[in-house]
This record gives sequence, C-alpha cells and structure tokens, in this order.
Amino acid sequence: MTAAAKRKATVTWLAYDSQYDRDVLTKIFKKAKADLHLVKPAVDDAAFVAEVEAKLAGAERKQASTTQDFIDIGRMLLERKAIGKRVRRLQQYMQVAEAIDTADEATKTKISSFFPQGFDAVLNELQSLKRRAKKSRLAPVIIPDDLAARMRIIQGDCREVLPMITEPYIRATFPAIKDAFEVFRISDPPYNQGRPGYDGYDDKMPEDEYRNMIIQVYGGQRSVIIHYGRVIINKFGNGVLGECLKDVPWIYNNNLPDQHRLIAWFNCQPDLSRLGQPYKNQKDRRIIECMKAGHEVRLYDFWYIEIVKNVSKPFDHPCVLPVELARRIILVTTNPGDLIVNAFCGSGTIVAVAAALGRFAIGIDISEKYCEIARARLGTIERELEACQELGAAVVGEAAE
Ligand SMILES: C[S@@+](CC[C@H](N)C(=O)[O-])C[C@H]1O[C@@H](n2cnc3c(N)ncnc32)[C@H](O)[C@@H]1O
Repeated sequence: MTAAAKRKATVTWLAYDSQYDRDVLTKIFKKAKADLHLVKPAVDDAAFVAEVEAKLAGAERKQASTTQDFIDIGRMLLERKAIGKRVRRLQQYMQVAEAIDTADEATKTKISSFFPQGFDAVLNELQSLKRRAKKSRLAPVIIPDDLAARMRIIQGDCREVLPMITEPYIRATFPAIKDAFEVFRISDPPYNQGRPGYDGYDDKMPEDEYRNMIIQVYGGQRSVIIHYGRVIINKFGNGVLGECLKDVPWIYNNNLPDQHRLIAWFNCQPDLSRLGQPYKNQKDRRIIECMKAGHEVRLYDFWYIEIVKNVSKPFDHPCVLPVELARRIILVTTNPGDLIVNAFCGSGTIVAVAAALGRFAIGIDISEKYCEIARARLGTIERELEACQELGAAVVGEAAE
C-alpha cells in the first residue's frame, strides 16, 4: 500500500437529487472507494451511514424519484484523481454545486446537519473551486491539508523574492519544520533562447542580465540546475556558482537538435545509491544471485526520461518538467524535512513533488497564471507520482515521514 493510499483522504459529503445523473455519482463513489475513509456525519445516525455505505459499495441502485424522496448524502471526493477527465468531471462538479446552491431551505437544513463545518463553508468551498477552475482552466481539486502545509507559491520576480526568504520567514511559513533542515535551490531556469509561449515573460534577456540573474539565484548555494550543458559550461563553468560536484545528463527523445540536458549539482551532491534500477547483464551468474536476493544496481549517472511532449502537456505551460526527473533529483539530493526553494517554478513540478515526498517547498514564478497552476498541482501530484515511478520504487535509505 502506498503512503498516499494509507493516508486519510479528504472526503466531502454532498447532497444530491434527481436533477443530475445518479449513476454518474455512483460510479464516482465506487471508483473513489479504495482511497476513501468515511467521515461520519455530525449527527448520530448509524442507519443512515450504513445505507450510504451500501450505496457506495454499489450494492443498491434504486431509481431516483424527487428531491424530497432522497436527500441521500453521498460522499464524493473532489479529488486529485479526477483531473485526467477534467472537462467532463468539471461539469459534474458544477452540477453538484448548482444542485446544492438551488436547494430549498428544508433541504439545506438537512444537508447542513451532515457537514461538521457547516453548509455555508461547504458551499463556499465549492464556489471557490469553481472560480479557481475557471481561472486556471484546471479541474477543481481538493488539496490534501498536509501537502498544502508543506508548500508555498509566491508570485514575483525571484530576484526580489529570494532575499525575503529568511529563517524567520521559513519558520513562520512552515511551523512544522524541524530545528535542523537544509535548504536546496533546485530549478530549471528560463533558457533565454527566445522560447515562445511564456505567459508575460520574454525569454530573451540581455546576456549580462541573464547571467547576473542566474548568479544571484544560485551562486554559492546548494543548487541543482537543469539546463543545456554548453550554457552551464560557457556561462557558469568558472566557479561563479561555486563548485560543481556532480553532473548527470538527462537524455530524451525528440526531433529537435538537442536530445539531452545537463543536471548540475553545485555545492552539494546526490547520493545515487538511494535509488535502484535493474541490472544490465541479467544473464550473468553473479547478477542472477544478486537479483534473487532482491538487489538492484544503484542509479546510473545518466538518465533516460521522456520529455513532456507538447501534445500531452497536462498544464498550460510551455516547458513542464517530467515528474520522474523531479522525483529522482529530490530523492537523491535531499532528505525529508529539508526545504527546496524553486525559483522559476512554472507549473510547479518540483515544488509539488517535493511536498509529496515529505519535503518543504517554496516556488516562485513571475507569472500569476503559472503560480495558480502550481498551487493546484498539489491536487494531482500523488497520482502523477504513482504513474511515473519507473525506477527505484524501493528507495534505499529513505526515512518515512
Ligand atoms: C523553464 S520554466 C520552468 C518550468 C517548470 N520547471 C515546470 O515544470 O513547469 C521557467 C519559468 O521561469 C519563470 N520566470 C522567468 N523569469 C523569472 C523571474 N525573474 N522570476 C521568477 N520566475 C521567472 C517563467 O515564467 C517560467 O515559468
């Protein structure tokens, strides 16, 4: 069982009536069942809870009649797993919200008794989800509380924001952070190659300004930079960022002139033995023995990871990093409880993965639109992580939170 599945999921109780498709909801309930824990209503109504449980299990499927007939409370997670079919699901959420919105007073009162936080709070939550969904073009999602408590996204120019991230700020932002933690600056900065499609950012700064920005952000810090190798060598290979202690080529398949980038560790280094991958010579007698004993070889220092292609881009951002890339960097470089500062956070891949892996994370992006996307990313990140774990599922030396 994964950590995500073990954790108590956020459950929202909703009333529903015949105005919308009961079968659709039943399917959602069934699908969500594995992940959910029933939150008991505030009222003491065991028979009712049992009835709902039965419905959730798909055991009962009676026909809907009128609103009054069944103000049954179903449970439905406005959940992170819904994002794949976002448009259709979004419509369902809208219907649910609208059905509640337009319920008569008696119905509302009955519904309220099942929401410990009060009917209005639930309504507000739904309305804010609707607003967020419209703004960011993402499906409404509920962000798990523990992830939200580990991540902050700040809109602004990182050159101005970074100096504000002082120790008191960090402690005030993340009250749960331990006394001792390390800070890492991990990001793929804008490439300054005139890349089109950014929101409100022109990817062609004067060279000097660009160089100064990179030095200002990473210089002298424990940093991991993802960039083109020739840029790192030509512009920052002379010690201005500190000492480069490790580099790993990230190789991918595309039709452009470059099929690799370089991940460079400055003033810190990865421990590649934390992640395993299958042995190469699997017919070798000694290797067979090792495999029988459940061993894997330590992660190689070249990584083949598919790039996120334009056609399959799940977020409206021109250069989304693969989740697997962020996962590997974070696991081999940092420990649970450390802080990752992700200047240039874009759609939030690094920050969201960091939070989901038990780190604290601050993301900064100049575009409010990308900040919104990054904030909502927490709602899907665990599903994205589950889908991407190609290598090293068994993490060596990784302390559970
Ligand atoms: C290469 S993208 C990062 C993509 C990100 N890793 C992801 O997975 O979506 C670089 C980002 O830097 C942002 N950016 C550019 N200049 C910035 C600045 N001065 N301060 C903060 N963000 C900036 C851009 O808006 C863009 O989203």
